[in-house]
Amino acid sequence: MAKGLFMSTGLAVGTGIMTLSALGGIITMAIIFQVQVGHNPPTTRVPITTTPVIPTGPPPDLRLPRNVIPQRYHIFLRPLFYHTLTNETIQSFIFMGNSTVTFECLNKTRSIFLHSKDLTVKKLELTRLDNGDILTVNQHVNESTVSETDFLEVKLEDDAVLEPNRSYSLFADFEGEMFNDLTGFYTSTYEVENSNETRYLGATQMAATDARKVFPCFDEPDLKANFSLTLTHREGSSALANWPKKRTSGSEIEIDGEKWVVTEFQSTKKMSTYLMAFVVSELANTGGIDYKVWARPEAITDGHAKYADTVANKILNFYESELGLKYPVSKLDHIALPDLAPAGMENWGLITYRESALLFAEGVSSTFDKEYIATLIAHQLAHQWFGNLVTMKWWNDLWLSEGFATYMSYQGLKHLEPSWNTEDLFVVNEVQRAFQVDALTAAYPLSPSEEEIQSLSEINGLFDTITYSKGAAVLRMLSHYMSTGSFKEGIKKYLKALEYESANQYDLWTYLQEADTNIEEIMSTWTTQAGYPVLTVNTGTGDISQERFLLNSTGNKAVVWHVPINLLKNDGSEVHDLLLDKAIGGPRPELKRDKWIVVNINCTGYYRVNYDRGNWEGLMAQQKADHHAIPMINRAQLIDDAFNLARGKYIDVTLALNTTKYLKNETEYIPWNAAMKNLKYFILMFDRSEVYGPMQTYLKDQITNLYRHFEHDTMSNTVPKNHLDQYAQLEAVTVACKVGLKECIDTATNMFNQWKENPYNTTTQIHPNLRYNVYCYAIADGGQAEWEFAWEKYLNSTIAAEKDKLRYGLSCTRHIWLLNRYLQYTLDPTKIRKIDTVSTINYIASNVAGQALAWDFVRGNWKHFSEEHGGEIKFLGDLIDGVTERFSTEYELQQLKQFQYDSDLTGDSIGSASRALERAIERTQINIQWVKDNKDTVLDWFRSETK
Ligand SMILES: *[C@@H]1O[C@H](CO)[C@@H](O)[C@H](O)[C@H]1NC(C)=O
Ligand SMILES: *[C@@H]1O[C@H](CO)[C@@H](O)[C@H](O)[C@H]1NC(C)=O
Ligand SMILES: *[C@@H]1O[C@H](CO)[C@@H](O)[C@H](O)[C@H]1NC(C)=O
Ligand SMILES: *[C@@H]1O[C@H](CO)[C@@H](O)[C@H](O)[C@H]1NC(C)=O
Ligand SMILES: *[C@@H]1O[C@H](CO)[C@@H](O)[C@H](O)[C@H]1NC(C)=O
Ligand SMILES: [Zn+2]
Repeated sequence: MAKGLFMSTGLAVGTGIMTLSALGGIITMAIIFQVQVGHNPPTTRVPITTTPVIPTGPPPDLRLPRNVIPQRYHIFLRPLFYHTLTNETIQSFIFMGNSTVTFECLNKTRSIFLHSKDLTVKKLELTRLDNGDILTVNQHVNESTVSETDFLEVKLEDDAVLEPNRSYSLFADFEGEMFNDLTGFYTSTYEVENSNETRYLGATQMAATDARKVFPCFDEPDLKANFSLTLTHREGSSALANWPKKRTSGSEIEIDGEKWVVTEFQSTKKMSTYLMAFVVSELANTGGIDYKVWARPEAITDGHAKYADTVANKILNFYESELGLKYPVSKLDHIALPDLAPAGMENWGLITYRESALLFAEGVSSTFDKEYIATLIAHQLAHQWFGNLVTMKWWNDLWLSEGFATYMSYQGLKHLEPSWNTEDLFVVNEVQRAFQVDALTAAYPLSPSEEEIQSLSEINGLFDTITYSKGAAVLRMLSHYMSTGSFKEGIKKYLKALEYESANQYDLWTYLQEADTNIEEIMSTWTTQAGYPVLTVNTGTGDISQERFLLNSTGNKAVVWHVPINLLKNDGSEVHDLLLDKAIGGPRPELKRDKWIVVNINCTGYYRVNYDRGNWEGLMAQQKADHHAIPMINRAQLIDDAFNLARGKYIDVTLALNTTKYLKNETEYIPWNAAMKNLKYFILMFDRSEVYGPMQTYLKDQITNLYRHFEHDTMSNTVPKNHLDQYAQLEAVTVACKVGLKECIDTATNMFNQWKENPYNTTTQIHPNLRYNVYCYAIADGGQAEWEFAWEKYLNSTIAAEKDKLRYGLSCTRHIWLLNRYLQYTLDPTKIRKIDTVSTINYIASNVAGQALAWDFVRGNWKHFSEEHGGEIKFLGDLIDGVTERFSTEYELQQLKQFQYDSDLTGDSIGSASRALERAIERTQINIQWVKDNKDTVLDWFRSETK
């Protein structure tokens, strides 16, 4: 993470200030900030060698020493901003604060280390609690600009020491500044509808390591404490925090002739610093008693928070009964913020969301928006137990929080909407997604060692697909292996035993093991090793073997997992509970085929399967004769496995392509989605080459049936009833228009034009499910007039779900100058909000006409992006992932390497982007090789299929 990023305006926090101050006229304390001007890239961990920490152990490098343990914080904050400006108001984003942390000393020490970042600490006072003695502290050193530590060191004067088993308190008086940077305590704005008035609000995003930007604290997840917060804010605004307000709260006071409200919150139970949250705003709520949804007043009036309100309560009740533990806070607020870096953040008792992740507008939001909202709420609610109640000891086990929340969100959704087939969607959204990144040699284990995760960029880098999707996939595999019942019992015990405490993966295994044996032995092969296995089954002999599945066919594959196996035979019989725990197994009679077998029923196992040629042929014959004999998920998985096995050179690419031939008769979404996800790779690799023509013809041919299956709905601007059919309709239109099926593009263009001519007529409104595609393909087919119309609509819409669709549609134009202008707009937050920057640029990059423009644009503005967004957990990484997705030439590889080199050279901290950049380079190398190896074969295959 780039250092000193947010110091561009106003208060120069933490820079070279030297003050002397007398405390109560008795103690004099020198406060010295040692700051190195300029910045060094955080290449090595900088130990604080200049600080003799006598008489306890060695000084800390990046982790806090455990010689003192925090217990309770009292925090007072007074943000100076006005939420509403009058024509004469001078706005200020300074916040004043003081905090007192009480802690217990475990080991004799002469200094206390805690975190503080970008704060001006004006006064410090250390008190011994049993006798009230005030101890002199002679300096504190903020090392944050020379290393990544962000340490605030408080040293005792010469021979004074803190004694073990005694409690102390440390008071700090400080000042900070809010920026529109989406981290710590930040500011955000929104426009009041139908007026030109701006409203300001203050909100927080502490995760992963930014509580230290709000108050000095021991900012590590296992150092849990009770937090008592008091906010003094301007009259007319309201304040929310994790816990409820005190009953006596809300007194009004006057400071310098201006009116303020003092809001005092109840003390929290033991919790981690990263879960703290508060919001000062003029937002309104749905009016529940203990459980409320908050948003802009207009959104509440228009009823956009109703859906979230209903869903949140249902899912919360479900989790309480499912987990056998009550939600432990007496209130819960869900709040939609105009700006939030992640889609949602699970702060205990005060969950924050982006508007598009919480607000549902009937007639404007689509079914998919609805599912997204329900999923996010279910995810954040699951965190109230997984993460909030039981927290990972250190970030290396982040998957215990994110993997569980992801896994549980599908349970919550299934309970909420049983007809949505969420279990099937799990395979598409999580398993297959994790398979992609986990097939690279650069993949990290799900649970790396603590030592590997130390710096801030290492921590931020963990918020990725592996942690979320592989974490969830591995838990799902375990739940099937153990049987869902005993898995659930084990989880309940784990939560109950460790509530208000912290855990690592071994604690989880301990509680699951009570229900079943060997869990740790089996599971540690999945959590501590990177990647996943591919099983090779010879259905003639019954032999089976495993190795690591890698897209790079020359990588090291000698890894062994404990693989739970189940399978289905063509006569409908099933075999369960085989376990392969060595490289080679068999021969097993269960693995022999009659016509065919399919291993990994419903893809509950986190592995791929390869077969002998005879079994592949048998399966494809079945697909052709009657594909329903193979379970729907497995039809999808066969395609996904075949394509990836071909990429890893286990099978021929023509075999993979052959698995798509039956799709002419397939009307289910999940297999189509698997095919198109993989063919998307072909499109990306070949849409700038001669292969694209015949490929387009083939796909047009394949998709026509599916398109016609839903054509009546599509043309009459309606959608099918069934949830997965709605997905299938979406897929049909997406693919058909993409490959240029004329009736699809004509329909999209007609719908768009009718709307454009009569934008306020209810009969011309496009069904929300169809809008992404209609906007995109009408704009792609149109010119400046269509673009400008959509842009105007974008600017005037206040509904995030609608803005998102238009923002995507705008990226589809083929006009270079429009694309370039659109890219420029991403630098202007009044046009494209900061939280939408990455996805907008990535949309443009995914348009073949915009690919090169987007890459040039990202390189040209890299400094800007790392300064403006370097602090956001995923920004730079997602940007790199998106704009380099199509890279498959030597020239592009050279550019990428040059870029990596230049970024290091100029000392621009590329933070979490460095992992993404490594991945991009590996992926590009693989792509180059793949195109070289496959282009001719693929061209021949498409030609012969379409002649
Ligand atoms: C501010 O607005 C009020 C009401 O519109 C007006 O009376 C006043 O003169 C304005 N003040 C300034 C400094 O423009
Ligand atoms: C901390 O700030 C609060 C609110 O401004 C104030 O009432 C309190 O006296 C301060 N504490 C100390 C010890 O200065
Ligand atoms: C610090 O104190 C704790 C608790 O008394 C003890 O377990 C630990 O070994 C001590 N550490 C050092 C470095 O002395
Ligand atoms: C907002 O400002 C614009 C231009 O300054 C003006 O034309 C418009 O009437 C204003 N709208 C409202 C509701 O005040
Ligand atoms: C594949 O792996 C081998 C061995 O680990 C490595 O030398 C090679 O660079 C990798 N190839 C690519 C394209 O990453
Ligand atoms: Zn989460």
